Amino acid sequence: MERARRLRQSAVLRNLVRENHVRTDELIYPVFVTEKEHTKEPVVSMPGIFQYSLDYLHEELDRVMACGISAILLFGIPLHKDAMAGGAYDENGIVQRAIRQIKKEYPDLLVIADVCLCEYTDHGHCGLVRDGKILNDETLPLLADTAVSYAKAGADIIAPSGMMDMQVDSIRHALNHTGFLYTPVMAYSAKFASAYYGPFRDAAHSAPQFGDRKTYQMDPANGREALREVEEDIREGADMIIAKPAMAYLDIIREITASYHIPVVAYNVSGEYAMVKAAAANGWIDEKKVVMENLTGMKRAGAKMIITYHALDAAQWLLEEP
Ligand code: PBG
Ligand code: ZN
Repeated sequence: MERARRLRQSAVLRNLVRENHVRTDELIYPVFVTEKEHTKEPVVSMPGIFQYSLDYLHEELDRVMACGISAILLFGIPLHKDAMAGGAYDENGIVQRAIRQIKKEYPDLLVIADVCLCEYTDHGHCGLVRDGKILNDETLPLLADTAVSYAKAGADIIAPSGMMDMQVDSIRHALNHTGFLYTPVMAYSAKFASAYYGPFRDAAHSAPQFGDRKTYQMDPANGREALREVEEDIREGADMIIAKPAMAYLDIIREITASYHIPVVAYNVSGEYAMVKAAAANGWIDEKKVVMENLTGMKRAGAKMIITYHALDAAQWLLEEP
C-alpha cells in the first residue's frame, strides 16, 4: 500500500472503497410533544427544534415523512408534574395520546417511546425520591406501568432511559404479561452522567431540582463498567443497546460492538447538536460537512443506528446527493 493515494484519485474510486455510510433508514429523530395546546415552542438552546402540541404535530411529522425518515423517538412534556410522576403512566397522558394520534395518522412511522419519570416528577429526577435519595426498586413498577401503557397506545419500541437497576427486567416481564411479548426494548445501557444533556433538559423541562444524576447515570471516566451495564441489560432481555452521549464516547460504541452481537445505537445528544449549531450560526464551521463527518464517525465506531436532532437535515442532504 506504499501508494495509498492510488485509491483516492477520483470520486468514483473513493466511493467504491468507502467503508461506512450514513443512511437515512438508520437515523432516528427525537420529537418533543407538549401537553399545551395550539403551540410550537422553540427550544432556545437547540435551534430548529420545537415542542409541538398535538394539533401542530403534523407539521413536524409531514417533514419527517417527506425526507424519508422512518423512526422517531418520542418525549412528552406534561402540564402537571407530581412526586409520583402520575403523568407518565396515565392512559390519557401526553405521550399516550400522541402515540395514538401518530399511529392513526402515520401508520408506517415507527414510534419509539422513551420511558423515564424525569419529565413527570416535580423534583425532576428519573426515579421516586425519599429523604433526598433516588429510590430504585420502588421506581421499577412505575416504569413498567409506563412502558405497558405506551405499548397499549401503540408504541413500536420501548426505550427505558432512567438508569434504574433492573429496569429492563421489570419492563420486559410487564410487557410479556400484558400481551406485548414482541414489543422490543431498546435499552439506554451505557448512559453517562453528562453535561451534554443540558439543552435537552431545557427542552423537556426535566432538570433535577436538587442534586444531580450521578447516583444513577454512569461516571464518564468508566469504560469497562459500561460493558457490565450492557451485559446486564442483555441478560435482562434488551433487544438493542443505546450508548450516550456519542462523540466523547466513541470508544464505548466500538467496545460494545466488538463485545456483543446486538444492534448498537449511538445517541448524538442535545449538547452535541447545540455546539455544532452554534459554531455553524457563527460561520465558524461548515454545518453540513461537520454533521456528516460526525455521523460517519459514529457509524465507523460501530453504531448500527443513530438518534440525532440533525436527522431531518442529514436525510435532506442525502436526498440531494446520496
Ligand atoms: C431522560 C433523558 C435524557 C436524555 C434522554 N432521555 C436527559 C437526562 O438524562 O437528563 C438526554 C437526551 C439529550 O441530551 O439529547 N432520562
Ligand atoms: Zn430521566
